[in-house]
Amino acid sequence: MHNVDFAVRTITQVQSETTQINENIVESKSDYYKIIILTLKYYFGTTRWCKSTVTLNGRTVLITGGNIGIGKATAIDLANRGARVIIASRNKEKAIQTIKEINDKTGNDNVRFMYLDLMDLEIVRQFAEQFLNEEKRLDILINNSGIAGWAYKTIGSKTKQNYDIIFGVNHLGHFLLTYLLLDLLKKTRNSRVINVSSLRHLWRRSPLTYDKGPNNDGMLYPDLAGYDTSKLANVMHSKMLSKILQGTPVTANSVHPGLAATDILMAPLKSVLPEKLYSIVDPIFRFISLDSAGGAQTTKMQLLTNL
Ligand SMILES: NC(=O)c1ccc[n+]([C@@H]2O[C@H](COP(=O)([O-])OP(=O)(O)OC[C@H]3O[C@@H](n4cnc5c(N)ncnc54)[C@H](OP(=O)(O)O)[C@@H]3O)[C@@H](O)[C@H]2O)c1
Repeated sequence: MHNVDFAVRTITQVQSETTQINENIVESKSDYYKIIILTLKYYFGTTRWCKSTVTLNGRTVLITGGNIGIGKATAIDLANRGARVIIASRNKEKAIQTIKEINDKTGNDNVRFMYLDLMDLEIVRQFAEQFLNEEKRLDILINNSGIAGWAYKTIGSKTKQNYDIIFGVNHLGHFLLTYLLLDLLKKTRNSRVINVSSLRHLWRRSPLTYDKGPNNDGMLYPDLAGYDTSKLANVMHSKMLSKILQGTPVTANSVHPGLAATDILMAPLKSVLPEKLYSIVDPIFRFISLDSAGGAQTTKMQLLTNL
């Protein structure tokens, strides 16, 4: 009996010690995760606010893709500063909804929608023609619209003129738009061009080759495909623009918004992950990244400084 008692007591003690050890492991593991998540939050998800109090009364801003995401947050802020804001978007319904929201939030009803689909260079030309006919000045051009790899699945691989869809929307459409509006930008004093690029421009490691194609798919300049290349093109475009604009009242810059939980990142995650997993990943991702307003800060900083 004595031996049995001793055996049971020993087992119980070992069990409780094991539980304690397991709890400690779980605790230290969860501490480990907490440290990783908080470090990620510090690097990616801490908003450095642009504190400029500049007002933009009398100035005209054109922003591509101002209907959702970072573009929308930028449009709200600039409207709040009194600017005339033109939202260039291919999605009239969402743009009108956004304009109503901007009117309600800021009291600024000098906000306009104009149809622009950067996938088709002919539409870009028509847009520029209409803009030049109807608008008297252009103080700030924000080339903000952007798509990433998910577009190959949801939209297709090529633009109307057979360029890679991502390169076409992110760079070529904006490139053409900027040049068509350049004279108006020059005429308007102290005007600015901002290309919303990405840190991902650094990921394009191989030299760009300008093989005209078409490849088997009929795509022109097939080597210039993909997000990283398009964002590198945004940076190169800004550098080249600022060179040729020296001595004029126009400046050109590119910015990286940071990691922001907008559709460009969240929509593919939502489609790819099982619902339950997405419901866990979504709040963690949103916690470690910026929101749209946070993503708009670098653009604001760039265009409002010394204006
Ligand atoms: N979020 C990030 O972490 C992050 C990081 C680095 C850089 N960026 C850059 O930031 C910019 C804004 O992205 P976001 O994060 O705000 O993404 P988003 O919420 O997905 O917004 C993208 C915008 O681009 C517009 N767009 C897409 N295709 C278009 C087309 N063919 N013609 C005209 N507009 C088109 C979209 O309008 P529709 O409603 O018509 O689709 C939308 O307004 C992009 O240039 C992106 O590359 C974002």
